[in-house]
Amino acid sequence: MSYGLLKGKRGIIFGALNDQSIAWKVAVKAAEEGASITLSNTAIAIRMGQTNELAQQLGCEVIPADATNYEDLYEVFRRSQEVLGGKIDFVLHSIGMSPNVRKGRTYDALDYNMYNKTLDISALSFHKMLQAAKSQDAIAEYGSIIALSYMAAQRTMFGYNDMADAKALLESIARSFGYIYGRERNVRINTISQSPTMTTAGSGIKGMDRLFDFANRMSPLGNASAEECADYCIVMFSDLTRKVTMQNLFHDGGFSSMGMSLRAMSTYEKGLEEYMNEDGNIIYG
Ligand SMILES: NC(=O)c1ccc[n+]([C@@H]2O[C@H](COP(=O)([O-])OP(=O)(O)OC[C@H]3O[C@@H](n4cnc5c(N)ncnc54)[C@H](O)[C@@H]3O)[C@@H](O)[C@H]2O)c1
Repeated sequence: MSYGLLKGKRGIIFGALNDQSIAWKVAVKAAEEGASITLSNTAIAIRMGQTNELAQQLGCEVIPADATNYEDLYEVFRRSQEVLGGKIDFVLHSIGMSPNVRKGRTYDALDYNMYNKTLDISALSFHKMLQAAKSQDAIAEYGSIIALSYMAAQRTMFGYNDMADAKALLESIARSFGYIYGRERNVRINTISQSPTMTTAGSGIKGMDRLFDFANRMSPLGNASAEECADYCIVMFSDLTRKVTMQNLFHDGGFSSMGMSLRAMSTYEKGLEEYMNEDGNIIYG
């Protein structure tokens, strides 16, 4: 169902690789809500992935960019304004990659060139994006910029490795740049901290299937799906959230506020019998 929340708005979506990607769902919903958009990804991702298919489906242009390259990003903002016919109202940074995770290196045996790459691709790219946009005054007043994060920025999660540091930096960049861009141009910058989600990047995380199950059991509302994340992004891009900025917004079914849930604890029990009354109903404390 469409609410026309982004009617007449122009946006750029970075990071749609295939139909599992969170960015893919955001692009589809943004179009449904009335926005015109451009897509961006690396040249190799465009060649190997399905970004072009999405562009065809939505009738939009794909502008290749390596997010570690400032000039590439500058060009995405320049060209997008040209194609879409004006300043940009919303941007999604949905980019993450750790060569250390890919190569199976643990956090106490990192390769530092790879560590730099992790930070560059997954965090500094956000700063480069914001600086490239601001330097050409590409974002409209009250424009909304979102990057996707994960709770490992605040709490240690097994196997998340140097991506945890990248997410902490990403969230800090949202605050630091959010102050400046808000003060000068009323542009808002936030991060959305999403539940574990089964995507190409997500499946790179060690023990992802168990992490996914644990988070699901811990969260009173269950894990948030990629589609639900896209819904939240749309609201954040819309005019309904004009005074929300410099925030890390948890979109995780309540996981980040939990310590232990009965459903998670029950995996360590033989059964739930000890919590049931004589009618077999579970007594929640
Ligand atoms: N999947 C999860 O469990 C989860 C949870 C929380 C946050 N996130 C975050 O969501 C974002 C999107 O990931 P996803 O889960 O949709 O996976 P995905 O693999 O579909 O998307 C990651 C994207 O990053 C792009 N990318 C990698 N290196 C790049 C570079 N140098 N320049 C430009 N683009 C580059 C990839 O091509 C890909 O499109 C990431 O920031 C990820 O960390 C994911």
